[in-house]
Amino acid sequence: MNPNFIRISLLLLTTDLCFGNIIDVRVYGTHGKNTTFTTTIKPTSDPFFSVSWAVNGSFIITSTISNTIVEPKYADRTTLFRETGSLELRNLTNEDSGEYTVTIIPASGHLISGAAVLEVQSKIPTPTVTCPPSTEGMSEVTFLCDDGDTSNAKQWTRDDQPLLPSDRIAFLENNRILMLKGVNRTDTAEYRCNVSNLSDHEVGTCQLTVYYGPDTPTVQQHPNPAVEEERLTLSCASDSLPPAAFTWEFQRRPLVPGPQHVIAELDEDHLGNYTCTARNDLTGLVVSTVHTLNGSGVPASGPMSLIMVLTLVGLFQQ
Ligand SMILES: *[C@@H]1O[C@H](CO)[C@@H](O)[C@H](O)[C@H]1NC(C)=O
Ligand SMILES: *[C@@H]1O[C@H](CO)[C@@H](O)[C@H](O)[C@H]1NC(C)=O
Ligand SMILES: *[C@@H]1O[C@H](CO)[C@@H](O)[C@H](O)[C@H]1NC(C)=O
Ligand SMILES: *[C@@H]1O[C@H](CO)[C@@H](O)[C@H](O)[C@H]1NC(C)=O
Ligand SMILES: *[C@@H]1O[C@H](CO)[C@@H](O)[C@H](O)[C@H]1NC(C)=O
Ligand SMILES: *[C@@H]1O[C@H](CO)[C@@H](O)[C@H](O)[C@H]1NC(C)=O
Ligand SMILES: *[C@@H]1O[C@H](CO)[C@@H](O)[C@H](O)[C@H]1NC(C)=O
Ligand SMILES: *[C@@H]1O[C@H](CO)[C@@H](O)[C@H](O)[C@H]1NC(C)=O
Repeated sequence: MNPNFIRISLLLLTTDLCFGNIIDVRVYGTHGKNTTFTTTIKPTSDPFFSVSWAVNGSFIITSTISNTIVEPKYADRTTLFRETGSLELRNLTNEDSGEYTVTIIPASGHLISGAAVLEVQSKIPTPTVTCPPSTEGMSEVTFLCDDGDTSNAKQWTRDDQPLLPSDRIAFLENNRILMLKGVNRTDTAEYRCNVSNLSDHEVGTCQLTVYYGPDTPTVQQHPNPAVEEERLTLSCASDSLPPAAFTWEFQRRPLVPGPQHVIAELDEDHLGNYTCTARNDLTGLVVSTVHTLNGSGVPASGPMSLIMVLTLVGLFQQ
């Protein structure tokens, strides 16, 4: 970093120091951006008689109570705040570097003036931020924030919340590297790196996706209890990213794959153990649940012996 970047020369040439008329002119400059020369003057009820700005001794703007005159090349990129004497300069170029002076004639009292040196710096390039896709349970994952300049300050946020060091979060190499330990699905978020120095700041973003699951599947039976001669659906669900693929088995024989197993018309041959298996090829995890289809139930229509059989099977199973 160039330590001479802003040589704020507070040559505060107040004509009457006894009255404490001090201007603090601060300077920030980035190519293509805006800057404001801010004074410490508090607005008063009496407007200033005049406010004038110059750079390297050349006229920029003069504003009196009755009119304002602007050097044409500054006309569309300056704003003068008459109440404080501050000046905004927009769309900076390297040629704007120089010594800026302000002269204020108050309605009554003593001339106030100040000066500051503006040095326009290059923009910080948009940082490249990388967060590699991760899987839950990984011991750690590292993020990189690169703007090509290791001396610029870097700050990380997750979903716009500042990230602070903790037992799970560490920062390395001057915050260029963010290390996350014990990765889990709740770490899925947008991560930002804000690179800044005295003249500029730029933000880069990456989206962390933590793959996980499948979690232990749950099976819903509809209707429950089962009704003979009716359609019956077994639905299997499992939280997983990416979504899990499902397969079914009945008494160890594979059925048509998919999250649902449908029995068009239930009879006693269908009773028994159904295994739903969820598989996530990205995490490599495979998890199963056994669902026992019991034969107790209410008749769909009329007294049927099969209902009793189903009920008995249900009883025998207990
Ligand atoms: C500079 O000021 C102009 C006018 O207020 C605004 O439209 C523009 O976004 C500003 N540029 C930056 C980089 O802040
Ligand atoms: C800023 O300045 C550059 C070069 O001086 C010019 O090409 C560009 O149009 C300006 N942008 C705005 C928003 O005035
Ligand atoms: C002011 O003077 C400096 C040094 O001579 C020069 O580099 C700069 O471009 C000048 N700035 C303006 C706006 O004339
Ligand atoms: C800020 O960073 C940019 C890009 O690295 C550099 O060109 C500029 O000089 C820096 N400004 C300061 C004040 O160091
Ligand atoms: C994931 O990490 C967060 C933050 O440390 C923790 O609160 C949460 O319990 C963890 N969840 C799991 C499933 O490990
Ligand atoms: C980035 O950092 C700068 C300097 O600390 C700050 O002014 C700015 O608001 C920050 N931007 C974001 C988006 O956090
Ligand atoms: C279903 O599984 C249970 C528990 O493993 C077992 O006790 C029962 O005999 C099985 N039923 C059939 C019909 O295989
Ligand atoms: C079937 O019966 C077994 C043994 O009583 C029980 O554990 C299971 O939850 C029953 N299944 C359903 C879908 O109610």
